[in-house]
Amino acid sequence: MFEEINQIKEKAIQEISQSTDLISLNNLEKKYLGRKGLIRQILKKIVNLSKNEKVKFGQLINQTKLEIKEEIEKRKKEIEKFKPEVEEIIDITLPAEKKYFGHLHPLTNFKNKIIEIFQSMGFEIVEGEEVDNDWYNFEALNIPVEHPARDIWDTFYIKSKFKSQNSKLLLRTHTSNMQVRMMEKRKPPFKICVIGKCFRHEATDATHEHTLYQIEGFAVDKRISLANLIYTLKSFLNALYKKEVEVRIRPGYFPFVEPGIEFDMKCENCKGEGCSVCKNSGWIEILGAGMIHPKVFESAGYPKGKYTGFAFGVGLDRLVMMYHKIDDIRWFHSGDLRFIKQF
Ligand code: FA5
Repeated sequence: MFEEINQIKEKAIQEISQSTDLISLNNLEKKYLGRKGLIRQILKKIVNLSKNEKVKFGQLINQTKLEIKEEIEKRKKEIEKFKPEVEEIIDITLPAEKKYFGHLHPLTNFKNKIIEIFQSMGFEIVEGEEVDNDWYNFEALNIPVEHPARDIWDTFYIKSKFKSQNSKLLLRTHTSNMQVRMMEKRKPPFKICVIGKCFRHEATDATHEHTLYQIEGFAVDKRISLANLIYTLKSFLNALYKKEVEVRIRPGYFPFVEPGIEFDMKCENCKGEGCSVCKNSGWIEILGAGMIHPKVFESAGYPKGKYTGFAFGVGLDRLVMMYHKIDDIRWFHSGDLRFIKQF
């Protein structure tokens, strides 16, 4: 038994000196000195010894435990001394860990660019109410109840006991809801640009979403003309795309302008050849515009015939589609990271 203890001690000292990290050192401590360790096990055999031998054996056991413990502590210090150097070794040949950073959504990116352009042209930027009432979204814009134009701007009405200006609450269908709101707050002359979300009860397809962004611009002063409107819109598009954008201007009907026009842009997806995005026409409708109707000035309480003005409403999503050659508007809100990571 005495010999056995010496063998255990020698084995322990050898293993401790060979260990290279703190984890294996801890394991050795458990193996030899732990509650179920080798020393405890051999100690159980003490019952078979005579009284004299018991004393000697006990002393040897205690001495051995002390020596093993000392060896462990010594080795621990050596390992710890060596550790910082190990940690600081940098292998510059290893490939770098790839970090993925989020970024702005392409719609937000474009929105910011557009804000910059209109600010540089002297427009005040406004976001405006997304939840509005029937008056500002329709009636004040010369679209009374039962007017057929309401069909193309079918919206989501909000069930609420609260009625604003005695008219129903709804999700705005266009940013034109801000025309009369801002006319009431500002005194002409002014130039205002509204950028924000609109909502439509829409059967969605490649160019129609239920939630879309619009950019509304309107200028009110004493001698504003259609030429001012067309020049402003062309300057905006050229600045945005950093090239001479090919557009087609055609008459369009909106109850709140007279005359009314629409701008189509040459389809960037097919370069005008015809594709599913432009429904094979080679053109994409991007905006409606015109000279502000006298009925709208009347809704805002302006004196009859005193002011003139232009207004336009551009679909932001379609501008981004043309810029990045995106073939379906529904990608924007799809939440599909394979799409978003491309920008
Ligand atoms: C309007 O919303 C008018 N308020 C625009 C206007 C403003 C006319 C001021 C005159 C004066 P329209 O419904 O055509 O018009 O929409 C304007 C633009 O928004 C369209 O040319 C298109 O680019 C975009 N748009 C319309 N509906 C959708 C839709 N469902 N999804 C994506 N973009 C759309």
